Amino acid sequence: MTETVEFEPRILGFLCNWCSYAGADLAGVSRFQYPPTLRVIRVMCSGRVDPAFVLRAFSRGIDGVMILGCHPGDCHYATGNYYARNRVKVLKRLLELAGVNPDRLVLDWVSAGEGKRFATLVHDFTERIKALGPFGLAQDREELQERLAAARRVVESEQIRWLVGREREMIEGGDVYGQAVSQETFDALLESSVVAEYLRSRLLLLTAGRPLSVREMASEVGMAPRLVLPHVVALEQAGLIAMVGIEGNSPKYRS
Ligand code: FES
Repeated sequence: MTETVEFEPRILGFLCNWCSYAGADLAGVSRFQYPPTLRVIRVMCSGRVDPAFVLRAFSRGIDGVMILGCHPGDCHYATGNYYARNRVKVLKRLLELAGVNPDRLVLDWVSAGEGKRFATLVHDFTERIKALGPFGLAQDREELQERLAAARRVVESEQIRWLVGREREMIEGGDVYGQAVSQETFDALLESSVVAEYLRSRLLLLTAGRPLSVREMASEVGMAPRLVLPHVVALEQAGLIAMVGIEGNSPKYRS
């Protein structure tokens, strides 16, 4: 008789020192039950969690990531959790683009007095990850790693870091010309920048190994060549990709 082993998710939790970590402590002291699925990393603030940490965790096979911070308005550094929220928004979009269910990442708030809430959040998130199953099991590991690497390049790019860091300023104080920017306009700008950066990062990674034509790149990323071409041109103009030969009628590019 075959015995089925129940899937025990491996979850990484970034806990803010001032609220959530103390909340976790209280959960322990109060003996609130929660599953032993969480590996904790204590950070000084949820705003300290670099998006690259989260993507690296997924690359290494973690099934889910929790970022827990102080409630809005209670951050010890005033706006750290505000930045965490913006970063998580970008991260979830990138996970989606990389073919990873964004529900594998959660951002929530736990105060030092909320031991019970901490235990409930860990329990509920564990159940969610159990329902989603082990990360990357059904996917091609190599391709998944490449997609996550592309996402990591995006969160490390100056442009996206700058944009995410300026959201509040641009909405409340206006853009570089002092023009007020609505939330919708900002979100649309962020979305188009993230999508373009992600695609360009993938093209750079794909052409790092071997020269590819636009048609071949398009087939690798599952898009029409006419949609990929402007990005190849932009990368060529930026000096990040270069034509290294012609096969038939097709120029081949390499990064
Ligand atoms: Fe807790 Fe900033 S100090 S979220």
